[in-house]
Amino acid sequence: MQKALVAKAPDFTRQLFRRSLPRERGFEPLEVEGRLPAGLDGTLFRIGPGRFDIAGAPYAHPFDGDGVITAMRLSGGRAAGAARTVRTAGLEEELRAGKILYGDAAPWLRRLRNAHGGGGKRTPNTSVLPWQGRLLALNEGGGPVEVSPVDLETLGETDLDGVIRGAFCAHPHRVAAAGVTWNIGLEYGPSSRMHIYALPDAGAATCIHTLTPPYSPLVHDFAATQSHLVFFISPVRINMLRHVLQLGGFSELFDWRPREGTEVVVVPVDRPQDAVRFTVEPFFQWHFANAFHLGDEIVIDYVRFEDLAPLKALRSEDSSAPFRDARCHRALVDPKRKTFRSEALSGQGCEFPRVHPGMEGRRHGILWLARGDLRAIIGLDPETRRETVYELPSGQWASEPVFVPQPGAGADQERDGYVMTLCHDDARDAGMVMLLDAQDIAAGPLARVWFRDYVTPAFHGHWVAADAGEREKILHYF
Ligand SMILES: [Fe+2]
Repeated sequence: MQKALVAKAPDFTRQLFRRSLPRERGFEPLEVEGRLPAGLDGTLFRIGPGRFDIAGAPYAHPFDGDGVITAMRLSGGRAAGAARTVRTAGLEEELRAGKILYGDAAPWLRRLRNAHGGGGKRTPNTSVLPWQGRLLALNEGGGPVEVSPVDLETLGETDLDGVIRGAFCAHPHRVAAAGVTWNIGLEYGPSSRMHIYALPDAGAATCIHTLTPPYSPLVHDFAATQSHLVFFISPVRINMLRHVLQLGGFSELFDWRPREGTEVVVVPVDRPQDAVRFTVEPFFQWHFANAFHLGDEIVIDYVRFEDLAPLKALRSEDSSAPFRDARCHRALVDPKRKTFRSEALSGQGCEFPRVHPGMEGRRHGILWLARGDLRAIIGLDPETRRETVYELPSGQWASEPVFVPQPGAGADQERDGYVMTLCHDDARDAGMVMLLDAQDIAAGPLARVWFRDYVTPAFHGHWVAADAGEREKILHYF
């Protein structure tokens, strides 16, 4: 009986957001199965919660997990990989103390002290932002933490020279045509505020405007066109009393108030004070895929839930539970007439929508998604609604697909490139990055790049193409 248990392949869904990264590692050579595309030089950076305890005492919620960045670097047809925990000041303090000092698992008196000016801990575990050669690890609950893109060593917490006031969300959007990355940050209090930040490709970051939401909302992501930002503020209220008193777990912090509806906020970036706001039916979303103008309307593709159930399902043993009822939608918003209509593009549960990075803010023709059960990658044409699917072999699990343009290809060539996703393989109990040809994902991977052992799952990430200088710096890893 014991032997049978040992021989049984580990089930990834039971480890998801529970099992900490077993081995920190700098870049080390990785096994390549198949053929890496010629000329594809750069690094895929991915991040997710990857440490869930201090000295064996577990954190209260997977979202409290310390961020682990997993990186796969390609150069000259070879691959190297690294995985490191982001060593925030709060984590260092907890490791020195040998116990949890922050979050809902901290002792009650310590939580009270934290809530009343005793400090907090940043947990950048949701996404990474490559910006001006820097790499920022992000989580909407706090400010960014800078990490070296060369070796993943933590460089320290930053507020971008005093510009960021409080938190900085994990879904910045770079509009290539404008040369600007947009982001927001919520500042919670008796009267919560939402700051809008512009991070230009060159020059200093600025805060361009501050909106006042009617209450303390949960805003995870937004959409950016070439001239407007669009927010869907779902009727999720953060219970500030529970938050301040540090009562209850993460899921209990949120109240679903469907009768209040979802507020649509359309912000012209050159006249942010002229934002248009109106309320529509209640729904919830984590993620937007893209947005663009079509006549008087703004077209917005996003993944929609009908209520807050996915937040409550995050602790489920069933990995597909949080995403089962998520549907990729297309909304048409007319800010002049204050109209909104939204329609499902697919009947499949799905999440983690992405487009070609050069298409952000422009009319796109293909969306890349992970199927809700994390067992397939989907390419969805939002206009014809035609889907192409690559289903992973049994025992392999996918995550967010990241589109990687073919070097030298124009942004208009939306399928000229690769779809990369960090996977887990039960039989090897190891991480793996799968490379699909975006022209035909159904044909299966061009290559699988294997980590030597388990790496923790990741929410989001980016591909950063290597320039000549970076190639010089990274050559010694191969
Ligand atoms: Fe996200």
